[in-house]
Amino acid sequence: MKNPQNFKTLCVHAGELKDEKFGGAISPLYMSSSYAFNNVEINQYPRYFNTPNQRGVSEKIAALEGADAGLIFGSGMAAISTTLLSHLNSGDHVIFQDDLYGGTRNFIQYEFPRYGIEFSFTSGIKTADFDREIKDNTKGIYIETPSNPSLKIIDIKSVSNLAKKAGIWTMIDNTFASPVNQNPISMGIDIVIHSATKYLGGHSDICAGAVLGTKSTIEKVFSSAKNLGGSLSEYTVWLLERSIKTLYIRVQAQNTNAKLIADFLENESWVERVYYPGLKSHPNHNIAKMQMKGFGGMLSFDIIPEIDSKKFLLGLDLIKPTMSLAGIESSALSPQLTSHALLTEKERISQGISSQMVRFSAGIESIEDLKSDLLQSLKNQI
Ligand SMILES: Cc1ncc(COP(=O)(O)O)c(C=O)c1O
Repeated sequence: MKNPQNFKTLCVHAGELKDEKFGGAISPLYMSSSYAFNNVEINQYPRYFNTPNQRGVSEKIAALEGADAGLIFGSGMAAISTTLLSHLNSGDHVIFQDDLYGGTRNFIQYEFPRYGIEFSFTSGIKTADFDREIKDNTKGIYIETPSNPSLKIIDIKSVSNLAKKAGIWTMIDNTFASPVNQNPISMGIDIVIHSATKYLGGHSDICAGAVLGTKSTIEKVFSSAKNLGGSLSEYTVWLLERSIKTLYIRVQAQNTNAKLIADFLENESWVERVYYPGLKSHPNHNIAKMQMKGFGGMLSFDIIPEIDSKKFLLGLDLIKPTMSLAGIESSALSPQLTSHALLTEKERISQGISSQMVRFSAGIESIEDLKSDLLQSLKNQI
């Protein structure tokens, strides 16, 4: 079969390298950082993002997102910063949704003023909130949906239509959904970004990023990427390929567990509020239903003020109180103390992040064991 299209098959086979010499079942790993001079414009070199394994995995992730091309990076932040800088000049303006991953927000607030790039954060997540921010020098809109950590849902098609009318580009951080649950290019988005440290990697053991789009967009990103130098090392590229082979089944299991945990928490008296797009009580459940194939493995919840959320997190046994997310092992953290710690109190409040908020990343363990762990930690706090 020459060009498989089915998502599950693409996860396993897209972009794989043939082992011509030995006929091995998986892509050979080319560790070389130096390749024969081919008398071409760009020779193969790891920082040129074009070694055999780098190209193979870029092709694989592009196939999963329905994109023409892609680039992989040394981290999600390298992908985000390089892509934004490659598309902006001094004097340009860009619009961001208010509720963003803390690291992205820090990057914008710290770096953009130094390069003379203007930016606005929207006051809400409706398309009209983006429309209101468009100015003569606006070049693009950047969204993140579901958002980290409040799981807010932006209407992707509506925002991309707005941008098209205004003649500006759109970028999305699709990390929380993963390509299994959401394919924004099919909804008109120009550039999709992933922290591949999360679902694409999926085992909490690699740090990587990816950018997907048309060939010309990716060429533009590459023009800055080769200067900024955030490429991914060969062995990590190879591990990433190995991880993506099981992406579909991992994420399906995580979707299922997240929904079961959200249903469970919604009926618990020690939980004030659950944030999960798969719940009917989520304010944008209907939009999520329209644009997502699954509701994802991430949820957040607010614990009642009588319980110390930090002690609750540290009291968990099986569920790891760790920084990152999307691994096959369930984990939980306080956004206030970790992912969004560098934001001011005012910024956190505007995003709805309180000290009682817990962000939960569903793994693939038994749902009964996960519930028992939540309840045993709760018992120790009361
Ligand atoms: C939604 C989102 N985007 C981007 C990033 C940054 O990714 P990385 O840590 O791989 O640089 C993160 C990290 O937590 C994230 O949660």
